[in-house]
Amino acid sequence: MHAARLLHEAKSIVVLTGAGISAESGLATFRDPEEGLWSKYDPMELATIDAFERDPELVTRWYVWRFARAQDAQPNPGHEALAQLEQWINEQTTCNDDRSFTLITQNVDGLHQRAGSHRVIEIHGSILRWRCTNTGAEKRLDELCFDQTPVPSEHGGIMRPCVVWFGEMLPEKEMIQTQQALESCDLFLSIGTSGQVQPVASFVSFALSNGARTIEINRDPTPMSEAVDLSIMGLAGEILPRVIDAIISFE
Ligand code: OAD
Repeated sequence: MHAARLLHEAKSIVVLTGAGISAESGLATFRDPEEGLWSKYDPMELATIDAFERDPELVTRWYVWRFARAQDAQPNPGHEALAQLEQWINEQTTCNDDRSFTLITQNVDGLHQRAGSHRVIEIHGSILRWRCTNTGAEKRLDELCFDQTPVPSEHGGIMRPCVVWFGEMLPEKEMIQTQQALESCDLFLSIGTSGQVQPVASFVSFALSNGARTIEINRDPTPMSEAVDLSIMGLAGEILPRVIDAIISFE
């Protein structure tokens, strides 16, 4: 299998995931014409700082609802295969075969971590963490009481989810880690993302122009499908386990 061969040969792998990898866990993507969140809800009413300032109760409730959906969901074989890939790479590194693996996700659902991935860069944040609008002090969602919404913070502000809203900057620490990973990467694998949202959508072109091999696994074609070295059209939860099994069987 060509994808497995490329991954097996790579020294520095960056994987980028989007909502498509969680679709087989039952979580809606954003841009599916029928089931996508943005086909049912207006992002300008729910995913901007203006929306939160206008109606913090509505926005809080929407993110609590999304958190509940994510908690009820289970990681699927796609998430599990990526956790296995990280573990395999760590084992190779222990055997003096120096390799690196970075998983960057646009998802805020925490499913990669629940599948066993350890090093995950949450480039669009997480709905499991919330922060005070005054001080930025963070709390885990399970430490908050939602009897009153918006939830008052003990520092005088209100609590908002630690997610990136339209018009906001990506988190600084995560961006620095991403930049470093992209600069040294020799294989970039994009999974389940439509490539519509900047700046994340440009990561694959950056990797390409930096000389990395590029693979895309996606149910539908994307703007990058023709540019990547290998485009595999299909479901992440079906394809990834086969790819990872093949990598491990090269040993
Ligand atoms: P999208 O909804 O834009 O794209 C999901 C992609 O996954 C589509 O290209 C689908 O074809 C593909 N897909 C669906 N099911 C799949 C499966 N089982 N296996 C493989 N591919 C599948 O979601 P994202 O690209 O993640 O940002 O969206 C990017 C950002 O836009 C999100 O992080 C969010 C949203 O607005 C913010 O909220 C800031």
